[in-house]
Amino acid sequence: MANVTLTINGQKVSVPEGITVLEAAQSHGFFVPTFCYEKDLTAPGACRICVVEIKGMRNLPPSCVTTVTPGMEIETESPAVFEARKTILELLVANHPLDCMTCEKSGSCKLQDYAYRYGVTSPTRFEGDKHKFAVDDSNPYVFRDLNKCILCGKCVATCRAVSDRNVIDFAFRGFNTKIATFMDTELKDSSCVYCNRCVAICPVGALSDKNMTGKGRGWELDKKEVTCTFCDAGCKFDVNYRDGKVVGVTANSAASGRPLCLKGRLGTEFMNNPDKTALPLINKDGEFVETSWEEALGIGPIVEKINALKK
Ligand code: SF4
Ligand code: SF4
Ligand code: SF4
Ligand code: FES
Repeated sequence: MANVTLTINGQKVSVPEGITVLEAAQSHGFFVPTFCYEKDLTAPGACRICVVEIKGMRNLPPSCVTTVTPGMEIETESPAVFEARKTILELLVANHPLDCMTCEKSGSCKLQDYAYRYGVTSPTRFEGDKHKFAVDDSNPYVFRDLNKCILCGKCVATCRAVSDRNVIDFAFRGFNTKIATFMDTELKDSSCVYCNRCVAICPVGALSDKNMTGKGRGWELDKKEVTCTFCDAGCKFDVNYRDGKVVGVTANSAASGRPLCLKGRLGTEFMNNPDKTALPLINKDGEFVETSWEEALGIGPIVEKINALKK
């Protein structure tokens, strides 16, 4: 693929033709905020937080849907860009609950981070009604508080990316627009399988993993990527540790990877279960009794032979 040369913040760069301005900027280490864009999954140009200034263009185009052209002169954080992003954030904050002190997402919330970066304080210049959506606490896995939703649409896209799964979508209009299941039921009455892809991709605290509630802020957790061994699909996910103890898992490939099943996500609970059995159980005369690993695995005679050879 041929390269094109352009200028970003006064610096000449060379990037592959056909990529977006956002990708060009990010690939050279320039910060551009995003809400609705997710690599390999979405680029709807809906939230507008990624606007940049391009010489010769009258408006500020969203960088995630603008393709690079040779000689482009781009400013990623000019005064006009800064002001536009601040206004977008002020409009979002105007009808946002601002429960940051107790919100599960605090510290890893894009709205909170960007509000800080662009100097948005509350109350903003805009008066806004607050939503009064009922929170969905109907199931043991996903907690939904759509009052905090910024309608980026990434949950819809990631759910739809799995074939035959299309549990949620945009519903209603105007101020009442929300992400809803078919017939706007609670998740427990929908076809949701609790894969938590939507939770992993949500940029704010509208969706949270109930299994991880109260177990630590994002920055307090260490993460390690592992491959699930429960079945032969080999899903990858992040194991989250706090103070050396496993506190849960996060689907780390919500954009394009395999969905994580409940077994993979909740299997870690066995690790901290004080009642877990240290020995395998075997069915003897209709009852499960503890036995040795050799007997359970059917390798007792082999182990005996090896031990005899060692003598
Ligand atoms: S979603 Fe973000 S901005 Fe909203 S309450 Fe939670 S941490 Fe604060
Ligand atoms: S948990 Fe999975 S199946 Fe349920 S809505 Fe989210 S992405 Fe869709
Ligand atoms: S619930 Fe989260 S991911 Fe879904 S649209 Fe709202 S903010 Fe975006
Ligand atoms: S991230 Fe570009 S429009 Fe939302």
